[in-house]
Amino acid sequence: MEYTLITGASGGIGEALAIKLAEKKHNLILVARNAEKLSRLSKHLQETYGVQATYIAADLTKQDAPFQIFQETQKQNWEVDMLVNNAGIGSGGEFAALNLQSELDLIQLNNASLVAMTHLFMQPMRERKSGTIINVASMAAFAPVPYMATYAASKVFVRSFTEAITEECKPYNILVMLFAPGLTKTNFNEAAGINNEKGVGLSSDYQTAVTQTPEEVADELLKALETKKHFQVSGSRNRIGARLTSLLPNAMIARFMANSYRKKSGLI
Ligand SMILES: NC(=O)c1ccc[n+]([C@@H]2O[C@H](COP(=O)([O-])OP(=O)(O)OC[C@H]3O[C@@H](n4cnc5c(N)ncnc54)[C@H](OP(=O)(O)O)[C@@H]3O)[C@@H](O)[C@H]2O)c1
Repeated sequence: MEYTLITGASGGIGEALAIKLAEKKHNLILVARNAEKLSRLSKHLQETYGVQATYIAADLTKQDAPFQIFQETQKQNWEVDMLVNNAGIGSGGEFAALNLQSELDLIQLNNASLVAMTHLFMQPMRERKSGTIINVASMAAFAPVPYMATYAASKVFVRSFTEAITEECKPYNILVMLFAPGLTKTNFNEAAGINNEKGVGLSSDYQTAVTQTPEEVADELLKALETKKHFQVSGSRNRIGARLTSLLPNAMIARFMANSYRKKSGLI
């Protein structure tokens, strides 16, 4: 039986996506740390949509987690034909003042685990010559973001890595998509300990204008999937923002964001 595996499915964008994919009759494997939430959601999806929905509780900041997840799917004969690497965490504040271990955990989760999951689940897809891999980046993938330095850099990695393997996977009929949400109303900022007001060097009006719900973001992802897109920014305003950002020098954007953050934080 074919399954879609979603990491970070216990809340936010991942949960919204799981619900919408269940509506479309995808069988699901939900991955995150919170077993209780995953159990409740998988039961709800089975009962409401009549799909197979199961879960694996795992902490993807642990180096061996992707291997254990892959082994479990092999053991259970769950054929993963779509992988959504969505789990991610942020961090915000002056880099030197942030907890180093948390920054390294962020890289392990946002990057190393994503690479490992992609590598492991890609092998059977290559053999079958079919499959889909979706990597969730961010608007932060398009420019450096002072006071969110490690997070933004981790998403630049996701972007570059995903754009490269998109081409490598074409001969194997594996669709790879880079999906970049903008600000989304989820638990993301709270989980990262980011103050909503001062979190990013963007004006409050701009933040309000571009912020989407996780359901809107999930809809955009599904629409992009239907048309087999390799790259999609979520939200029309974010799409314009990403275009403009790519036209400006990184140093100029970084300077603007840093000054704006310092003003909002009362540092200058
Ligand atoms: N929200 C935004 O404004 C925004 C903007 C751009 C991009 N994104 C990206 O969108 C993705 C989803 O974020 P979200 O906004 O939906 O955030 P969220 O509401 O905080 O959800 C994050 C998900 O990741 C899981 N997760 C966190 N740490 C984990 C770990 N160590 N191991 C396994 N799973 C873990 C969480 O579940 P557990 O706590 O149960 O583990 C949760 O299911 C992330 O990659 C994020 O970078 C978000």
